[in-house]
Formats: sequence, structure tokens, C-alpha cells
Amino acid sequence: MKKLYGVIGNPIGHSMSPAMHNDAFKTAGIDAHYQPLQIKTEDLPAAVPGMKAIGISGFNVTVPHKTAIMPLLDEVDPLAQAIGAVNTVVNVNNRFIGYNTDGAGFIRGLHEEYGKSVLDKRILLIGAGGAARAIYYTLSQQGAILVDIVNRTAEKAEQLKTRCPYPVNTSILSLQQAETTLEKYDIIIQTTSIGMSPKVDEKPLSLQRLRPDAFVSDIIYNPAKTALMKEAESHGARVQNGLKMFVYQGALAFEKWTGTLPDTERMEKIVIEKLGGKTC
Ligand code: ATR
Repeated sequence: MKKLYGVIGNPIGHSMSPAMHNDAFKTAGIDAHYQPLQIKTEDLPAAVPGMKAIGISGFNVTVPHKTAIMPLLDEVDPLAQAIGAVNTVVNVNNRFIGYNTDGAGFIRGLHEEYGKSVLDKRILLIGAGGAARAIYYTLSQQGAILVDIVNRTAEKAEQLKTRCPYPVNTSILSLQQAETTLEKYDIIIQTTSIGMSPKVDEKPLSLQRLRPDAFVSDIIYNPAKTALMKEAESHGARVQNGLKMFVYQGALAFEKWTGTLPDTERMEKIVIEKLGGKTC
């Protein structure tokens, strides 16, 4: 029988996951369908057992359900528990198990583009919201040695650090401190919404002191090249946008469901097509 997968969120019509996963299932020769499911916040407690009742094999979770779904699951993986958000659910013998592949997806995408290990590098993380938490906790869990954090609201960065269950060397910096010590960092990771369409001219900080051999990874993919990425390139640095993070969080979810990693190059092509052919 055809297996059913999906993504729950609200709104969900814009999601690129169905195109990406349906093609991946077809390419892998798996008889499955991936369905976008729009679920209102108040309907989530009924929707989760409903999905179990119809025998869904697995699903992705997006805004606004990533945290609210956690108590409705049978089990939540420790990393997802620490992050406080689930983006992937696997149905194992009629038990729903929640994971978070956002951070691991980001690191896979960064590693692929960077070309060497990132864990022994000096990293500066910009932002302290949900995306930053997934990336910071996963970097720490995987053994990163130094990840400093800069955020508009310093208390939120402090919280991120103190609540991290994995050991990592972290200083919390003001914007000014980050700008003046920027030459220290090998990798800059931008996780805020600053520079996202339509406010494409905004930047979270100045990269005046960026080293030309540094690497700047911005998790935004619309626009394909943010103002921060443009400035990084003007200093000779290499850059990437959030496309690979999106592809790999999906690829790692697919791997959890099926046991095999899909063709990520093909997935990336589909997402670029959906975005109107623009890449960076
Ligand atoms: P997400 O879940 O997408 O990471 P979030 O949890 O709302 O979103 O976090 C947004 C991040 O972007 C935060 O680090 C936020 O900074 P604050 O903690 O100071 O709010 C940052 N951010 C958003 N808009 C910003 C702006 N205009 N200037 C500076 N930082 C901003």
C-alpha cells in the first residue's frame, strides 16, 4: 500500500517540502505520497491522534507547531528536547517519535560548502532565536570547540548559552564587540531575519574586519544573496545562503523515515526551480 507522509503547519501552501519529498520518493522508487496539511493551532491536539489513526508513516512540522507538538508525541529525542522544537516525526510501530533535523541539516550543508571540518573552527553565531538554538545546540552536541554569540538582546544570548546541555566555549558579545573582533572568526553564521525579503538592504552588523579567508553562512534564502553576503564577498570571503540548510533538514528527515539519504543535488535543483531559478 502507498505510504503517506506530510508536513503540518499554518499557513502551508507556500511550502517547498511536498515538491522536494515527492520527487525524492519517486527517485528512490518508494511508493509514497507527501501531503501538505494545514492545521490550525487549536486543532493540533486532535490532529496528531488523527494522523496516527490514518496510519501516516512520518511527517514534518513547521510554524507554528514545532514546540506545541512536543507533549502530543510518544517520545522526543534528547537533542530536540533541548532545542525545544520538533521538525520531524517518525511513526515507529504506531508510536510518534519527534526529532529536530534543522541544526544537523545546517551543519551538513555548511560542511559540504566549506569543504572541511567546521567543529575545530572559531565560529560567530548572529542571533539567539529558534533557528540559532537549533544550530548552537547541534554544533555543541557535535563537539564544536568555540561558538561565540552576538544578539541584539544580550539576555537571550545568555539564556541560549546557560541552557545548552552540551559543553562548548562561548562568549556573549555586544554588536560593537563582534564588529571590532571579527578577524578572530573563521565562520560567521547569520540566523536572524535581518536582510530577508522585502527588507533586503538590512544587515545585522558590519563586516569591515572580516578576514578574506573567512566563510559567511546566512540561513536566509530569499533573497538568494543577502546584503551581508554581498558585503562578505566584497572582502574576499566565501558565502552560502540557507538553501542547503533547507535541503539537508529535509534530506535528514527522509533518512529517518526510509533509512536512506536521498539525492540531495536533485532536491536542491527542485527547490531552486520553486524559488524561480535563483541561487547564489
Ligand atoms: P527564528 O525562530 O526564525 O529564529 P525568532 O525566534 O523570532 O525567529 O528570533 C529572531 C532572531 O532575530 C532573534 O535573535 C532576534 O533578536 P532579539 O533576540 O534581540 O529579538 C533577531 N532579530 C529579528 N529582528 C531583528 C532586528 N530588526 N534587529 C536585530 N535583531 C533582530
